[in-house]
Amino acid sequence: MNDINREKSTRPIGIFDSGIGGLTVARAIACSLPEESILYFGDTLRFPYGPRELPEVQDFVRQVGSWLVHHDVKLIIIACNTATAAGLEIAQREFDIPIIGVVEPGARAAVQATRARRVGVIGTVGTIESEAYTRALRSLDAGITVFSAATPRFVEIAEKGLRVNHDVVPDFLAEDSFITIDPAYLEITRDYLIPLKRCGVDTLVLGCTHFPLLRPLIESVMGPGVSIVSSAEESAREIATTLERRGQKALPGAQAVYSFATTAVDVDEFIDLGSHIFGHQVEWVEQVSIEELEQSRREFSARR
Ligand code: DGL
Repeated sequence: MNDINREKSTRPIGIFDSGIGGLTVARAIACSLPEESILYFGDTLRFPYGPRELPEVQDFVRQVGSWLVHHDVKLIIIACNTATAAGLEIAQREFDIPIIGVVEPGARAAVQATRARRVGVIGTVGTIESEAYTRALRSLDAGITVFSAATPRFVEIAEKGLRVNHDVVPDFLAEDSFITIDPAYLEITRDYLIPLKRCGVDTLVLGCTHFPLLRPLIESVMGPGVSIVSSAEESAREIATTLERRGQKALPGAQAVYSFATTAVDVDEFIDLGSHIFGHQVEWVEQVSIEELEQSRREFSARR
């Protein structure tokens, strides 16, 4: 096989998140681009990114980005809203492959969905304080009014729901699934979302890759009049267009290979929970230390 065809058929798409949440995006990519191979990196040891300072998250983006580039990915999607808000621009400047974040695709999906042009955004403290969604939404439609709320406990609720229910809920992302959780969590959900509902939003952006796991809970509070959008499908569309334009799509009939790397100490748990979110068996998992990540970053910087 010549180099051009090797490039087309085998180089994986790199996907990166602070843990397992980005597998909601990986799932959408695997679903809409079934011939594309994926190399997924979950920085579980340093999860959560949401409460961290931006410069720290920017360093993580540099490290994981360098590791993925070293592993010959053809494109990177930062499947973490917090890391996108903190480090997308830095990564785009430093790496010479396409880097796609999840904020702009999520904003685009919201602009297409809203009728009232009143859009709610929920995410981690880091994402909401960065105002990345507000900027992205306004750059697409300057007439949109944005109402944002940090909902950090949703990350914890999604993770707890996964741990408690993963034996009984076969598919967390199925339309009819419901993560049965402590009634206190319904109260927290109401406290977070009813103020947004009162503002008259007709569209709510799930600005965190964990939140699609809570979609039924969020929908039950927002009601049928509010469209709930996440970046996953729109990001997958953007990747398809980018690869198409660059002539880098996998060859028709190519056999996709899914491989994984994580900084998690408990790799079995990463496999177990990850398989539920991804909807395919998570296997071929490499455990990566922070020292290795830092080494990749140093080597990458030295080569530039
Ligand atoms: N996956 C992260 C995001 O989309 C949320 C979890 C975290 O705080 O690391 O923002």
